[in-house]
Amino acid sequence: MSVLGVLGAGAMGTGIAQVAATNGWEVRLVDVNEDAIVNARNKLQKILNRQVEKGRMTDIQVKEIFGRIYFGTSLSSFEGSDLVIEAIVENLEIKRKVFVEIESIVGDHCILATNTSSLAVTSIASAVEKPQRLLGIHFFNPAPLMKLVEIIPAVQTDEEVAQKAQNIIDSWGKYTVLAKDTPGFIVNKVARPFYGEAFRIVEEGWADAATIDWALTELGGFRMGPFALTDYIGHDVNYKVTETVWKAFYYDGRYTPSFVQKRLVDAGYLGRKTGKGFYDYGEGVVQPEIQKDKELGNKIVERVVAMLINEAADAVDRGICSEEAVEIAMTKGVNYPKGLLAWGEEWGFDKLVNFLDALYDRYHEERYRVSPWLRDKIE
Ligand code: NAI
Repeated sequence: MSVLGVLGAGAMGTGIAQVAATNGWEVRLVDVNEDAIVNARNKLQKILNRQVEKGRMTDIQVKEIFGRIYFGTSLSSFEGSDLVIEAIVENLEIKRKVFVEIESIVGDHCILATNTSSLAVTSIASAVEKPQRLLGIHFFNPAPLMKLVEIIPAVQTDEEVAQKAQNIIDSWGKYTVLAKDTPGFIVNKVARPFYGEAFRIVEEGWADAATIDWALTELGGFRMGPFALTDYIGHDVNYKVTETVWKAFYYDGRYTPSFVQKRLVDAGYLGRKTGKGFYDYGEGVVQPEIQKDKELGNKIVERVVAMLINEAADAVDRGICSEEAVEIAMTKGVNYPKGLLAWGEEWGFDKLVNFLDALYDRYHEERYRVSPWLRDKIE
């Protein structure tokens, strides 16, 4: 049986352990914090019991899955692992340190992976003795439900190691996409305008949050609008991702964060978890009236979707991923209704480029610069 070590028994580590154990792997889930281990065990037991209640699994299956997971606080249990996935606190120095310790415990053939969302995999890899066996394996939250996993080879990673890692994750029933080690990888880069452009529309005052959410869900086909979604994610978390991507791309104006969101963070209006964000979640609060104006709604959808397509094109243009990968990433990772490049084709690349050029002419801001990939499509 293949053995997986998971370091960090928080939201991600626990989910990854569940995925692997469900797919027949023996899992050793380790955390420095004993409470985290107790919580992870209780959480998993509850989730698996629910599967039995819903008739999706038998009692025996659940016992087997649970029996394949060892819970502990010592790294030494990683001995003999084929793969170790680290899902601890998002801190470069701490991650570098733990990988050095892990490397001293596991054998030479063991693949080392980080689940980091925002750090450079390459700088984590440079801490270990055999960086060619380290890469990023980026799951989405919640790991058992989200189908996409980004595979991110570091500059040092052996191609064979990346291929092997990809095969393992594929065998767990996930869609894997290869991404270059660049800020936000694929999904967290390409999704930025979904929030940023919607915030911009609010800042400019031509529609309010509820109207934009209505337009993007009802007319655009997105599962959730950007305001309801960021209220759900938490503005502290979502703002931090935008800020990190912006800084990491050397302050490229394409990703400049929005004041409207920054002020929510400053006020402590972090969304659902604090009872207030763009919406007020207090009891008995009447939600704002939506102007269901289709003409306005379509303009909103056009503007946000144009920016998303441009960002997807840019990811391909800069060699971050293939055309196929960006389509899979955005439909499976964040459930977009269509692949963005296919959406662009449907719209007509010439019309799309004209639309973006008009925005650039109006604002003269970097965020509206057209990706060369789109221009090439019409020349
Ligand atoms: P979390 O805060 O829920 O869990 C982190 C766990 O790591 C905690 O239980 C903590 O006790 C443990 N830990 C911290 N330092 C440790 C150490 N030195 N040794 C062993 N255990 C240690 O965090 P979460 O959300 O699960 O994130 C983990 C990683 O996954 C981060 O790198 C994050 O950026 C990444 N990630 C998070 C996603 C999310 O939506 N939460 C999505 C994709 C990736």
